[in-house]
Amino acid sequence: MSSPQRVVVLISGGGSNLAALLAAARDPVYGAEVVAVGADRSGCAGLDHAADAEIPTFVERVGDHPDREAWDRALTVRVSEHAPDLVISAGFLKLVGPHFLAAFGGRYLNTHNALLPSFPGIHGPRDALAYGVKVAGATLFVVDDGVDTGAIIAQVAVPVLDDDTEKSLTTRIKVAERAQLVEYVGRLAREGWRLEGRRVIIG
Ligand code: GRF
Repeated sequence: MSSPQRVVVLISGGGSNLAALLAAARDPVYGAEVVAVGADRSGCAGLDHAADAEIPTFVERVGDHPDREAWDRALTVRVSEHAPDLVISAGFLKLVGPHFLAAFGGRYLNTHNALLPSFPGIHGPRDALAYGVKVAGATLFVVDDGVDTGAIIAQVAVPVLDDDTEKSLTTRIKVAERAQLVEYVGRLAREGWRLEGRRVIIG
């Protein structure tokens, strides 16, 4: 069996997607291992999941740097130290800059809680509900230099119910989103993948 793909996960919040990846990666046949978890703020619950799993963590705050470019460089160094094959933004609420993309472009993935290209940005479920769509969902994609514009790896749909609130829809999406993330990170790691234009081909 080839050695597992090294994954660094970036988070800003509760880290339920991270927790799902950590649980999946306990299985030696999963194909990927989380080698470090980084955050843009201290005190987020996701860092505790990593600590519980005895995985190294780091925090790189924008405010600790003179400007965004310096932060982007520092984040790139911190992630590089763990020599990842894949970097995954799992609720990481920062756009990375050109240094990060020069190092990890093409292998930096993000999971977004809307069916892109609809509803990019940080309020996917709220925007979907306000628009009145009947189907919502989550998108796993390869990050490029736009906002939620990269090549799509996978999408999963959930219904929008008449009595949904932002909270209930967000929760329904997150359940499907976590399962998708776990399934596809494993598949990418085990089967390999390539980009043809905007199309992601697995295997
Ligand atoms: C996910 O739904 C992601 O799409 C959004 O933030 C959420 C992160 O949740 N950007 P968690 O921190 O993994 O629980």
